[in-house]
Amino acid sequence: MKAILTLTAAILACGTLAARADTFDKVKVEAGRQLFDAECHRCHAVDADKASYGPLLEGVVGRRAGSFEGYPYSPALAGAGFVWTPGALKAWMEANDALVPGTKMRHVGIEDPTVQDFIVSYLTSISG
Ligand code: HEC
Repeated sequence: MKAILTLTAAILACGTLAARADTFDKVKVEAGRQLFDAECHRCHAVDADKASYGPLLEGVVGRRAGSFEGYPYSPALAGAGFVWTPGALKAWMEANDALVPGTKMRHVGIEDPTVQDFIVSYLTSISG
């Protein structure tokens, strides 16, 4: 009996933790969306139907840098040859012109790791 109670308590605790993790993820994505709106949206669409001065960022996580079909990239980004991971996106937000010298995206300088993390959560959520 005691073992069953302990097991039940453990299962309930796991459920609660999973639900909390889920809530944290939703809050991070929503915070990231708002930060993206403030810092990035004026240049980047996240919807293929909208005009975008910079490349479309829907699906960017896992995409090769400089590879969105039809976008006129700088030669520097077109030839960069790496894949957008969360770490690369954070480095890019912090100092894009240091990560890819010669890029035509102007320096945005997002240095706060929490802000970087939120924006990456949002970009991951729209990258299927
Ligand atoms: C002033 C306009 C502007 C702002 C603001 C801006 N970007 Fe950009 N972004 C660009 C341009 C232009 C490029 C293309 C750079 C090139 O071809 O060298 C680009 C490229 C990128 C790429 C590379 C995409 C690919 O297909 O390889 C990523 C990722 C990116 N931006 C993320 C962001 C994020 C995240 C923010 C906000 C923190 C942001 N950008 C803010 C104009 C902007």
